Amino acid sequence: MAPVTVAVVGATGSQGGAVVAELLKYPERYRVRGLTRDVNKPAAQLLSAKGVEVVSADLSAGSNALIGAFAGASVIFGLTDFWASCSSAIEVQQGRNLVDAAAATATLTHFVWSALPDPVALSHGKYLHVHHWKGKSEVTEYINATYPALWEKTTTVLFPNYFENCLTNPASYLPKNVSGTYVHSFLHSPTTVLPNVSIADTGKLVRAVIEDGQQYFTKTIAFYAQSLSEAEKVKVLGEVLNVPTKYTQISPEEFQQGLIETVSMTEEDALDFTEQLLIFETFGNVYARDEFIQAADIPGLSLTTWKEFIQGHDLLGKMNHPN
Ligand SMILES: NC(=O)c1ccc[n+]([C@@H]2O[C@H](COP(=O)([O-])OP(=O)(O)OC[C@H]3O[C@@H](n4cnc5c(N)ncnc54)[C@H](OP(=O)(O)O)[C@@H]3O)[C@@H](O)[C@H]2O)c1
Repeated sequence: MAPVTVAVVGATGSQGGAVVAELLKYPERYRVRGLTRDVNKPAAQLLSAKGVEVVSADLSAGSNALIGAFAGASVIFGLTDFWASCSSAIEVQQGRNLVDAAAATATLTHFVWSALPDPVALSHGKYLHVHHWKGKSEVTEYINATYPALWEKTTTVLFPNYFENCLTNPASYLPKNVSGTYVHSFLHSPTTVLPNVSIADTGKLVRAVIEDGQQYFTKTIAFYAQSLSEAEKVKVLGEVLNVPTKYTQISPEEFQQGLIETVSMTEEDALDFTEQLLIFETFGNVYARDEFIQAADIPGLSLTTWKEFIQGHDLLGKMNHPN
């Protein structure tokens, strides 16, 4: 059979880049088309050099602009990036543009939608400021309500905490105190777990899903390798790296203030970020609910563990030599 075209939104980023990397391993099955706002940026040119058909597309430019980028695609991997604008209104509009264009793609057989769950429903109305989840869940509802035929071939994937987040700013994830102990401060009790994955494994998940298409149509997959507490993660990290570590629980207010001071988040974004974590503190691992297919139950899907991730990344080296 001739290879099918897979259009990947966010091809230069973490999720989409992992999808591209995996599908490129199977040129007899997939022709990969990567969307980017800037075809001249180094990440886009690197994709081109690897054989990706790189096309220019901005989710904010409206669905007509995207229809051309999706033309002829059998599969679309779609995402929106809340943190690029920090605006739920913009994210929802971008998601609708993407969905309108996917619905207008006559060749489409499978739409894989990168989402997050509805924080208001999951928390029974308790947490109302988790905008980066809520917008994505509104787009999921939009697909279902507006395009029944598209919904019939849609798989929604709920993404969890990335293992890779610890690499973004390792010195603030795990600062060393005066006595040489690496201290991780977080708002969860030591026993509260979060769903976690190596985002580099996104490609494995997406390939498994598109290769077993129909089974996952209309379904929502909770994509995570392990439910882990931050306290457990720090303990494993200390054992693997052979360094002293300590976990300290701080209050939600202290945590939120830390985001404002250390990563310059606005008060609203810091509240958004904090409340998403409080959902797990209050309601447990909501990703483990029966309504979601568990990625761990997908046959043949082997996901990286935290221990393997730490063994494979030089976290301490990155702290000492950030560039
Ligand atoms: N970090 C986490 O733990 C976590 C967990 C769950 C969910 N998420 C969600 O993951 C999403 C971000 O995905 P990521 O981690 O893959 O991000 P990323 O690595 O920062 O990459 C963002 C990608 O989105 C593309 N993009 C941004 N705005 C665009 C636009 N207007 N039109 C077209 N493409 C656009 C960028 O492409 P170009 O710049 O090349 O145009 C880039 O490829 C966020 O919405 C976040 O809420 C994150």
